[in-house]
Amino acid sequence: MKRKKLPKLESEIIDTVSLRRNNTQEEWQLDVRKASIGPDSIDIRRLYGDSKMFTWDPGFTSTASCTSAITYIDGGAGQLLYRGYPIEQLAEHSDYMETCYLLLYGNLPQPEEKEQFVDEITNHTLIHGQLETFYKGFMRGAHPMAIMVGVVGALSAFYHDSTDINDPEQRKLAAHRMIAKMPTIAAYAYQYANGMAFPPPKNKFSYAENLLQMLFSVQSEDYVMNPKIVKAIDRFLILHADHEQNASTSTVRLAASSGANPFACVASGIASLWGPAHGGANEAVLKMLAQIGNKKNIAKYVAKAKDKNDPFRLMGFGHRVYKNFDPRATVMRDSAYEILEELGIKDPRMELAMELEQIALNDDYFKEKNLYPNVDFYSGIILSAIGLPTNMFTPMFAIGRTVGWLAHWKEMFSDPDFKIGRPRQIYVGEPARDYIQMNDRGHTNRPLRFNKFWQR
Ligand code: SDX
Repeated sequence: MKRKKLPKLESEIIDTVSLRRNNTQEEWQLDVRKASIGPDSIDIRRLYGDSKMFTWDPGFTSTASCTSAITYIDGGAGQLLYRGYPIEQLAEHSDYMETCYLLLYGNLPQPEEKEQFVDEITNHTLIHGQLETFYKGFMRGAHPMAIMVGVVGALSAFYHDSTDINDPEQRKLAAHRMIAKMPTIAAYAYQYANGMAFPPPKNKFSYAENLLQMLFSVQSEDYVMNPKIVKAIDRFLILHADHEQNASTSTVRLAASSGANPFACVASGIASLWGPAHGGANEAVLKMLAQIGNKKNIAKYVAKAKDKNDPFRLMGFGHRVYKNFDPRATVMRDSAYEILEELGIKDPRMELAMELEQIALNDDYFKEKNLYPNVDFYSGIILSAIGLPTNMFTPMFAIGRTVGWLAHWKEMFSDPDFKIGRPRQIYVGEPARDYIQMNDRGHTNRPLRFNKFWQR
């Protein structure tokens, strides 16, 4: 089968729109650019130059920040495609290494291409001995995501032979190194918390096998591989591999747009992913289920989630793009069931989660706001079943998402419209005013109340 070339990052101009400012009757013509699938976009790059006006879109709910050929999401249909392949089919037929190749290189690999790629990744899994000393600087109880931000950021001080972003060979090496080392770095954060020695990666293992044995091996005994757990973790990584311009990927793109060190850019992505509104939600879901406690309390918490004056939200529910089921949540739920059965675990939180899902999905508030379970709703059940504590859930998400961050980083260099990201704003502050000397400021003996200024 002839290999399909990567599509050029161009979008054809297919129309124009007219924008008119009614009180001045000024009018501007803006190009409409065609997507291969999904919404077309209005090209507003000339708008400020022509109109001296900005567009305003906090949270970028209607703004395309780039052109990309990596991942497509149809939120209304609950569809997720990696390079055109449906996530459900990749979860069923592919493996994480093949999915990494697909996201980075655009097509499913030939056997020899996959073998070469896996070989390359396998041979970069070790971390420098000096880097291991960074862990010692952390308290044993430090959150593993804090450790990962620090240690991955520190990689930028170790690999100067793969940071010249103008050298394609160095870009490839940096990407492969990051994908290879993320499981090692995350597993060591967990072993460090437990006061254990760091089990080295072993080249005889697959990516998911290596991750599991580095997480759970202890000096006195090796980790016993359970093929069903290996498959579940490999599938978990596939489901988390990429997701278009989400907050952490956009963070990596924005950091990388200044030409920053690739490892430092990935560290910025880890920092963004950590938030409970994003990748930190998987940890927050388990905390929420513990807070709800049992089925009797579900109605009370669903009411809290609907109360505008209550900050409580149903973690693992809702999504900026999906206004239907997150297809990953469906696969994750089936995988959670499978793992619990395989391990003979009756996790009451699974039943509680299923009951919560049913009640929420039949509640008018959630229906009218299109709030469905997202990827984070069931993932914690799987990770908990294999023995990980909740604070290791987001590091696992970060391992899966590293290839997505790097695929977007790689794509930026082939984008003809690539430039440093620099959004503007609607300024609503003070107009220009002259400095006032201290004695002329009209002293009052009113007590200083800084915290008033820190309220939301
Ligand atoms: C991920 O972007 C990605 O692709 C992310 C991700 C990826 O793979 O990278 O998919 C991974 O981050 C999944 C999302 C994990 N986060 C959570 O589960 C946290 C709980 N969810 C919410 O915080 C929220 O739904 C977000 C952050 C996910 C989405 O927020 P939006 O798009 O800004 O939507 P919103 O906050 O404006 O909510 C719209 C309405 C609001 O009510 P109104 O102001 O219209 O009256 O829905 C309500 C919200 O109050 N709402 C919720 C809710 N989520 C939204 N109400 C109760 N519980 C919730 N979970």
